[in-house]
Amino acid sequence: MDFFPSNETIPSQWRIDVPLEQTSYLCDGEIREWSGEQHDVYSPICEGGERKRIGSYPLLDAHNAQEALDAAHKAYNYGRGEWPTMSVEERISRVEAFAYDMREKRDEVVKLLMWEIGKTLPDSQKEFDRTIDYIYATIDALKELDRLSSRFVIEEGIIGQIRRSPLGIVLCMGPFNYPLNETFATLIPALIMGNTVIFKPPKLGVLLHHPLLEVFCASFPKGVVNTVYGAGEKVITPLMQSGKIDVLAFIGSSRVADALKRQHPKPHRLRSVLGLEAKNAGIVLEDADIDLAVKECVSGALSFNGQRCTALKILFVHRSIVDKFNAKFSAAVASLKGGMPWESGVSITPLPEFDKTVHLAELVRDACDQGASILNPAQNRYEHTYMFPVIVYPVRPGMRLYTEEQFGPVVPIVVFDDISEPMEYVIESDYGQQVSLFGTDPHRIAELIDPLVNQVCRVNLNSQCQRGPDIFPFSGRKDSAEGTLSVSDALRVFTIRTLVAAKETDGNRDLIRSIVRDRSSSFLSTDFIF
Ligand code: G3H
Repeated sequence: MDFFPSNETIPSQWRIDVPLEQTSYLCDGEIREWSGEQHDVYSPICEGGERKRIGSYPLLDAHNAQEALDAAHKAYNYGRGEWPTMSVEERISRVEAFAYDMREKRDEVVKLLMWEIGKTLPDSQKEFDRTIDYIYATIDALKELDRLSSRFVIEEGIIGQIRRSPLGIVLCMGPFNYPLNETFATLIPALIMGNTVIFKPPKLGVLLHHPLLEVFCASFPKGVVNTVYGAGEKVITPLMQSGKIDVLAFIGSSRVADALKRQHPKPHRLRSVLGLEAKNAGIVLEDADIDLAVKECVSGALSFNGQRCTALKILFVHRSIVDKFNAKFSAAVASLKGGMPWESGVSITPLPEFDKTVHLAELVRDACDQGASILNPAQNRYEHTYMFPVIVYPVRPGMRLYTEEQFGPVVPIVVFDDISEPMEYVIESDYGQQVSLFGTDPHRIAELIDPLVNQVCRVNLNSQCQRGPDIFPFSGRKDSAEGTLSVSDALRVFTIRTLVAAKETDGNRDLIRSIVRDRSSSFLSTDFIF
């Protein structure tokens, strides 16, 4: 039986009968029409043996990129534009209005998330709601930050007021697996702090931003938010080569991030906020609660088909419990339901990246050629873009699955005798995002925490790896990240501390008093945001 449904069997509210042909883009405060070449968007959901075409978007060119840059530059105007000089309170009210109107678009965005990247309905809804929550949490964090900065400091006879100021033009590029949330997790803090923004949606997950264009357009002054679409070399290279991008906020591969950074003619002027690859390990010690470890590892490795940067991408299990663990893990994976994103109870869905199932099958074959086996051959099913999770055991050094980030539904399990083996793995890995430790002996766990926190940025105890809650710092060492994101850290990374200072003389006191009393400066001000 065909895994993919025919159009008539799809519930009418989730059906796409008419493709969304997006011919518009946002530039300099207006939604402009594009009559040039379009890029076809194919869903991972197939129809008649082929990916279903669900729409298209503009393939803009270097000229459009230049227009977006000019608009962002004009709106920033060397920090003299309306937006960067606007009071924090006013900027907050614009972002609040944006979030309010954005909520109206929830159903449209959620439907497109399911069709463009195959994310399940509950996860797509969660991505949208989490993004709205993130915006409100950012507003609260900024209010708090602003309250702390609304006072003067007097030190060594100098009066000072210290605040955080914007950096300029921010280029935001999010990843396909969280195209809305992770784009907005940089775009919103960058904006609210007074920067102007150019954003390019990821290659997969473009159309879902379309319903938000008019909301951006209505909420912010001209040129504060601009969008570009198309091939990176046509629209991103000229932006970077112009030297006018002040911050690169990019979530994707280190190869692309390095190439983009190299294009900037004055690298010291470019601040980079990067979320890159990871190969987070789950380490299951001999005294672990196996049922708990299995539950966390299944969800850690296979939520959204393993397409999370924080996914557990390799499991190390102690030899004394490996058979029991493997049996329970395989049974838990067998109970996962595959299907279409809108079907109830589904967790495994089609993969959006082109030829991804072929690539994953190669990784599995490579391990099997070198002596590993598939623990769950009976359930394996490949069909076009769909692949039921494959558990590969025992994975060893030398196999591609040992080091390569699979970013998909393949779970490599390594057996170990001595804890030094997974510890060496973490040390030698190119990545340093997170690790999960499963065990119950407090001494043992404590001994491992101390070296591990100096190798990765989050050690999860008896819990899968994850980014949230969003107020926690999210970062990585080595090739996994540059900079730290969290609701409050993001406000810092898109700004620089600036101060106004004056020797404490009667004349300067009167001068400052007068500016504050007349509220003639947004920066030099004691206004308190409630
Ligand atoms: O793809 C990486 C995401 O930041 C992971 O976020 O742990 O909340 O799924 P998550």
